[in-house]
Amino acid sequence: MTITINIEPLSDALGAAIRGIDLRQEVDERTQDELQELFARHCVLCFPDQKISAEDQRRFAAMFGRVDGGYRSKSGGDLKESATRGVMLVSNIRKDGKPIGSLPDGEMMFHSDGAHREFPYRATTLFGIRIPSTGGNTLFANLQAAYDALSPKMRKRVETLETQTVYDYAAQDRGTIGEDPTLPRARHPLVKTHPVTDRKSLYISRLMTEKIVGFDHDESEALLAELFDHAEKSEFVYSHKWTPGDLVIWDNRSTNHARTDFSDDEQRLLRRYTISDPAAPLGN
Ligand code: OGA
Ligand code: MN
Repeated sequence: MTITINIEPLSDALGAAIRGIDLRQEVDERTQDELQELFARHCVLCFPDQKISAEDQRRFAAMFGRVDGGYRSKSGGDLKESATRGVMLVSNIRKDGKPIGSLPDGEMMFHSDGAHREFPYRATTLFGIRIPSTGGNTLFANLQAAYDALSPKMRKRVETLETQTVYDYAAQDRGTIGEDPTLPRARHPLVKTHPVTDRKSLYISRLMTEKIVGFDHDESEALLAELFDHAEKSEFVYSHKWTPGDLVIWDNRSTNHARTDFSDDEQRLLRRYTISDPAAPLGN
């Protein structure tokens, strides 16, 4: 049986909401092809009103690449339990004073998951379980549109540049990023071409791009500040207000994401799987 899905844009910047599909069930091949095509085109897909288990979410994620299966310490389950392999909970809920999930509290600056690795995650899936009444929106920024909107002069300037990225999620502002030399780091081209669509992206983010290789500190910060401000302009950004049952997948190659602040007094819980390029080395 093939199904007819309903597609609605989420914003002018990016994203589509997909209805008419129950992801507790296997998706037929024709629909899988359609979803892959929609994903490449819209960069962010939201499937509202889902009632999926972790296994359903893992099967969904597998349509888009190799689901990362490492044991995560914040999986919410027995570490050796296969059902929770690869799961990461994103939550501010605490047990005995300790968060049960990762990325527990408040605002987060724009970033792209896995940018600190040589092989960043291709995509991330997040399923909303408990959502605060206000705040805690996820912001998605279209890095392809941001690239397209650069002046020809700026395009030329950034074309061949390379960046150093770092994983320092504890940093609250750029002033303190990367003070610890042992943090994980990688190098990436500042402009990346999407392997499916051939579109170019500005691969930079306020949280994870530490510097431009070969530039002195002030020169690097000045150009990066200009590019961050550009890439975060409201015309490129969609703010996702979560509803429990939303399953969202985003493309880390063509988008950045951030999170708005929310209160400690309300619980927030989402379940996350990342997806890698099948050609990337195992270990994500
Ligand atoms: C993530 C992330 C944002 C959010 O899971 O990688 O950045 O809204 N989450 O919790
Ligand atoms: Mn993230």
